[in-house]
Amino acid sequence: MFGNRFLTEPAPAHHFPEGGMAALDAMRLVAEDLALEGDPQRNLATFVTTWMEPEAQRIIAENLHTNFIDHAEYPISAEIEQRCVRMLADLFHAPGETTGCRTQGSSEAIMLGALSLKWKWKERREAAGLPVERPNLVFGGDVHVVWEKFCRYFDVEPRIVPLEEGKYTIGPEDVAPHLDQNTIGVAAVLGTTFTGHMDDIVGINRLLLDLKAEQGLDIPIHVDGASGAFVWPFLYPDSAWDFRLEQVRSINVSGHKYGLVYPGIGWLVFRERADLAEDLVFYENYLGKTDATFTLNFSTGASMVLAQYYNFIRLGRAGYTYVIEQMQQNARVLAENLRQGGRFEVIGEGLEQLPLVAFRLKPGHDASYDESDIAWQLSAERGWMVPAYTLPPNAGNVKIMRALVKETMSREQVDRLTQDIEDACTTLDQKGGTTQAERAQVKQGSGY
Ligand SMILES: Cc1ncc(COP(=O)(O)O)c(C=O)c1O
Repeated sequence: MFGNRFLTEPAPAHHFPEGGMAALDAMRLVAEDLALEGDPQRNLATFVTTWMEPEAQRIIAENLHTNFIDHAEYPISAEIEQRCVRMLADLFHAPGETTGCRTQGSSEAIMLGALSLKWKWKERREAAGLPVERPNLVFGGDVHVVWEKFCRYFDVEPRIVPLEEGKYTIGPEDVAPHLDQNTIGVAAVLGTTFTGHMDDIVGINRLLLDLKAEQGLDIPIHVDGASGAFVWPFLYPDSAWDFRLEQVRSINVSGHKYGLVYPGIGWLVFRERADLAEDLVFYENYLGKTDATFTLNFSTGASMVLAQYYNFIRLGRAGYTYVIEQMQQNARVLAENLRQGGRFEVIGEGLEQLPLVAFRLKPGHDASYDESDIAWQLSAERGWMVPAYTLPPNAGNVKIMRALVKETMSREQVDRLTQDIEDACTTLDQKGGTTQAERAQVKQGSGY
């Protein structure tokens, strides 16, 4: 009468349960388990959206039954996807009619975009009677792990430009030595996972245009705008990184990051229809209607597509600009607070950047603790989740912390976080670094 039996018994975990339980008990069992998850309000680690308006939540909830891939049954959801693609193509300055699709996130969009690079390269090579055995892809060490994953899964040689201390993005001079006849493309990042800055896409585009003019080698750029492609159009509208640059042939963006939609939704947009390799599109007769699909998954929900469309029409350019400028304003305050506190240096300030603060202890700080200790102490004292991680090779000796400043983070909270970081450092000043066991619990990764 007063509670379910799992209050005193372990939750089913190892065997398929013989019998079931009352709906209320099942609901409470799950809810009680989840009560110990991280608090999204204090999660400054994730790029992914943790809050949406109630009206958007209603659209999501009312459409959870809709299988997006059933275009014959749910043609309006399919049309709304295409509206979103057209709006994104417009936002990214596509020169004319183009094509694209929803994906589960940027990872799927990158797999599909990079597959198209590979297939288009193969088409060009085969047309010229040249071998197609050894494709390679050029990118910097500042990319998300998904790019290496693509290379391994789809048998492409990764040519990775290493980073170094003080240089956390790449430019044309880094890319040039790696290019050859077998390069299927260059992947450039807009808003890196590590520090939130952009590769020199303008410079890489210029290099590739020169190469085309001088050697007839047409190497495309795919821009990984997982975070940045929903930030740059609003914070830095005059900065060219998109289809304004001739060699940029495809762009991915995560709707569930600065697109301000819950996970999982991503987008892939091509410059022109011809940039999508036709061989990758499957035409099939499904539920009585011929349908074209270009996707790694099949069945998936339509809710997040609808929620993305909701945000586009609800916010428009003016609304996205307002929200993202507000994030940037508070991120700048946090950066200024940290700098004034005297313990930290802020990384890459003054450059175009995602609304986040990447920071590290100043050289010559108390050597008895480092950024990982601060991350642990801060979470132990106040529950903030701020990751500490080392940068990719060859900047592996640089350890930084990174705080995302989202739309739900008020100025008041920024000041509170500043004080909480200071307090965590004061504790560490007194007691020294954390123990091995504590450290093992610190978030080490940057990519989520
Ligand atoms: C630059 C970049 N690319 C790709 C991804 C992967 O995106 P998703 O999580 O949407 O699959 C991320 C995620 O953090 C990212 O920051």
